[in-house]
Amino acid sequence: MVTRTSYDRPGAADAPSAPSTVLVTGGAGFIGSHACVELLDHGYEVIVVDDYSNSTPQVLTRVERIAGRFVGAVYELDIRDRRSLSAVFDRHSVDAVVHFAAHKAVGESTRMPVRYYDNNVGGTTSLLSAMHEHQVRRLVFSSSCAVYGDAGGGPLDESTPARPASPYASSKALCEQILSDVCRHRPEFVVLCLRYFNPVGAHPSGLLGEDPPGTPDNLMPYVAQVAVGRRKRLPVFGGDYPTPDGTAVRDYLHVMDTVEAHRVALDHLADAPGMRVFNLGTGTGSSVLDLVAAFRSVSGRAIPFEIVERRPGDVPELIADASAVARAWGWRPTRDLSAMCRDAWHFQQLNPHGYAGSARRFGKEE
Ligand code: UD1
Repeated sequence: MVTRTSYDRPGAADAPSAPSTVLVTGGAGFIGSHACVELLDHGYEVIVVDDYSNSTPQVLTRVERIAGRFVGAVYELDIRDRRSLSAVFDRHSVDAVVHFAAHKAVGESTRMPVRYYDNNVGGTTSLLSAMHEHQVRRLVFSSSCAVYGDAGGGPLDESTPARPASPYASSKALCEQILSDVCRHRPEFVVLCLRYFNPVGAHPSGLLGEDPPGTPDNLMPYVAQVAVGRRKRLPVFGGDYPTPDGTAVRDYLHVMDTVEAHRVALDHLADAPGMRVFNLGTGTGSSVLDLVAAFRSVSGRAIPFEIVERRPGDVPELIADASAVARAWGWRPTRDLSAMCRDAWHFQQLNPHGYAGSARRFGKEE
């Protein structure tokens, strides 16, 4: 189960002492890895669990390289494996958990609904059991704007009723329901649900980014792979939506802004009891073709595309009203679509074939 711990490695003892210990589930994933950098940069001790189902161990080597600090310990496990997860809590004095580990492809979830419920909901209940058993009561939960479903036009605030349109979205809504029940009946439990709109982009170093295995499900990595020549053309899912150019509109949010919000959330976890829910977004909607144009402009590359059928589970428009989090904590995103595309392109250029294909360029990473 244990892949390595800081105690195994020389130099770990030199890491600066940290104010508290955070367990990050899915810490090798796209958002999780950027969050680890952010937390290490701010003095937290970070423990990672990840099953590498959508990531690789070398991501964490890069996290450490950027942060100039070691991750405290890394465990390769599926969080549904309760015994192994419990052993992690036995070994570390965890103060709070940031829970990213989940399957996240909307289209795939419509083909494999049970897999999504099993992994996303089952993983969350297993984590809650382990936290309860070890009296860990602080959680930041990675939720999604997907819970709103097709809620009509205009920015959506947190009071918008949940109308999930895919099994992925339903799995996130169910997790929120479970967390809300836990908080209602166990007042010592504190949960922050962060409903992200569409996190994209990459670390500005170009060392971390989105590297999906196989054909990308998400727009930004697909566009980046077309720009770098790995794929011929982008399929644009639907050109007949009731939007200005007929393609679906989303609120894209730089992954660096996203993870800064998580660090701020940890700082504010203890502010109030129970569960609180915040949107994370910019409040700006961009269509698929807007993103293609922005990427073309920063990369100087042609992005051939073809309009195809709508994708099941997609909705026409999702834009955040993220004023609540700004009022509560003063958090506001600072990076625009151009910066998101620039950083995604930088990562793609440095890693044209993803992490695995970049071992030679960056040297042996494990
Ligand atoms: C969904 C979730 C979002 C979650 C993300 C994680 C919804 C409504 N939103 O985002 O909360 O963070 O998954 O994976 O469920 N597109 C193309 N061609 C492609 C790929 C995508 O046209 O090859 C289009 C999609 O149809 C969509 C837009 O680009 O309109 C964005 O798609 P994607 O990047 O997959 O994210 P969402 O599905 O919006």
